[in-house]
Amino acid sequence: MVSCLLSLNKASLKPTATTFFFFAACLILSALSSSASFQPSRTLLSRPLNKLRRPVVILISCDGFRFGYQHKTPTPNIKRLIDQGTEAETGLIPVFPTLTFPNHNSIATGLYPAYHGIVSNSFTDPNTGDGFTQKIFNPKWWLGEPLWETVVNQGLNAATYSWPGAEVNKGSWTCPKQFCSPFNESVPFEDRIDTILSYFDLPTSEIPALVTLYLEDPDAQGHEVGPDHPRITDAVARIDKLLGRMIAGLEKRRVFKDVHVILVGDHGMVGTCDQRLIFLKELAPWINIPENWIERYTPLLSIRPPPNVSAADIVAKINEGLESGKVGNGKYLKVYLKENLPSRLHYSDSDRITPIVGLAAEGFKVEMNKTEAKECAGAHGYDNAFFSMRSIFIGHGPRFPKGVKVPSFENIQIYNLVTSILNLHGARNNGTSSFPKAVLLPRYNKNVLVS
Ligand SMILES: *[C@@H]1O[C@H](CO)[C@@H](O)[C@H](O)[C@H]1NC(C)=O
Ligand SMILES: *[C@@H]1O[C@H](CO)[C@@H](O)[C@H](O)[C@H]1NC(C)=O
Ligand SMILES: *[C@@H]1O[C@H](CO)[C@@H](O)[C@H](O)[C@H]1NC(C)=O
Ligand SMILES: *[C@@H]1O[C@H](CO)[C@@H](O)[C@H](O)[C@H]1NC(C)=O
Ligand SMILES: [Zn+2]
Repeated sequence: MVSCLLSLNKASLKPTATTFFFFAACLILSALSSSASFQPSRTLLSRPLNKLRRPVVILISCDGFRFGYQHKTPTPNIKRLIDQGTEAETGLIPVFPTLTFPNHNSIATGLYPAYHGIVSNSFTDPNTGDGFTQKIFNPKWWLGEPLWETVVNQGLNAATYSWPGAEVNKGSWTCPKQFCSPFNESVPFEDRIDTILSYFDLPTSEIPALVTLYLEDPDAQGHEVGPDHPRITDAVARIDKLLGRMIAGLEKRRVFKDVHVILVGDHGMVGTCDQRLIFLKELAPWINIPENWIERYTPLLSIRPPPNVSAADIVAKINEGLESGKVGNGKYLKVYLKENLPSRLHYSDSDRITPIVGLAAEGFKVEMNKTEAKECAGAHGYDNAFFSMRSIFIGHGPRFPKGVKVPSFENIQIYNLVTSILNLHGARNNGTSSFPKAVLLPRYNKNVLVS
């Protein structure tokens, strides 16, 4: 196995001839080393389709699948996808905030949350006073163009299985009953897989070009017991078994080698035990923060003071208190005006983002005051630079080179990757346009190299 790490660091993603050449050379080496029966005419190109007429992507998200979970227990099916496909060697980087709705929509649109509008799991639009949680299916909240909309806009079928936001009607996407299953936690995972497999029994021209599937595990367990509990190991084993069911179903239909399977998660998970808590009430000598200014406590602290109160003054007072040494764990919370957040977070360019944002240190939680609540659990939502927030990326199928590792990348790159595989014109987004070329094999087209 040859690692193509060197050629794909962030700087080199800018399309220069040298880096592209290096990467191409690296892919050849990978192909040479991973294929015993090396066929010169085909190693550089994607593998041709056998049964399907056009490329298909099955995009699966396992909520809260932290990078590394795949090594907790034998996962033969995940391992098969990795060994025969392409993996982000040190995981997939979520967008900030590392929460479920913002990240699923970044995967679907290629946009940072400030631009796709879902800036948190719940928030208020200050211009209308409307809250996002109550009206999530109103298209006004969802600003980007998700993959399923891109697919149907260009005349192909798309199918979504409870992907957050996929029930929203946008453009030509009307969430058709046959191809759009709403979130229902009572539906056994096996049934969800079988529904997806049934799409491959349709006449070839009706098979959806894109199928997305959302599974709420192992996030559900991670929140309750943290990332290092046997229940997580069980959940991971169960997901692997489900993937086995899917692979077997695709093989039975003779399409497994034709389909692109992309396995991702939205974010990781970190343990929150050991009294790693910060109580805002302890800031009372510096400032009293009314509860109704706070949109979210933890791990991302979101504060929206009324317009006649200076946000800058509040930030100054809070940080004075936190840095005084008199607030418990004060040094593990940093509070910013959103425009002063590190620019790598891309978290300021939207009215929906509160004027004041606090970042808790890894594994710390922010609360108003002491409670009797059980504090040992798991959380996510932290700075996306923390390794514990990373999830997985595994791509398998004709356009993915076999046995190749690529460096970690942000999930906003996935939109371009999918539109490139499907040969569709994508909407404007925050992904790098040269990214698909660096990861995917060029399209197979009767031995003519077209990229
Ligand atoms: C959710 O799924 C269960 C099990 O299939 C079903 O009985 C129930 O009616 C579904 N709920 C909704 C709201 O569709
Ligand atoms: C801000 O406005 C509210 C009502 O609109 C008022 O109750 C409050 O006293 C004002 N605060 C300041 C600091 O002016
Ligand atoms: C915070 O909680 C403690 C312990 O429950 C209580 O004694 C104290 O009065 C509370 N402080 C405030 C400001 O609510
Ligand atoms: C992200 O993409 C949107 C839409 O094209 C654009 O308006 C915005 O400036 C981009 N932001 C960054 C940080 O690239
Ligand atoms: Zn999640």
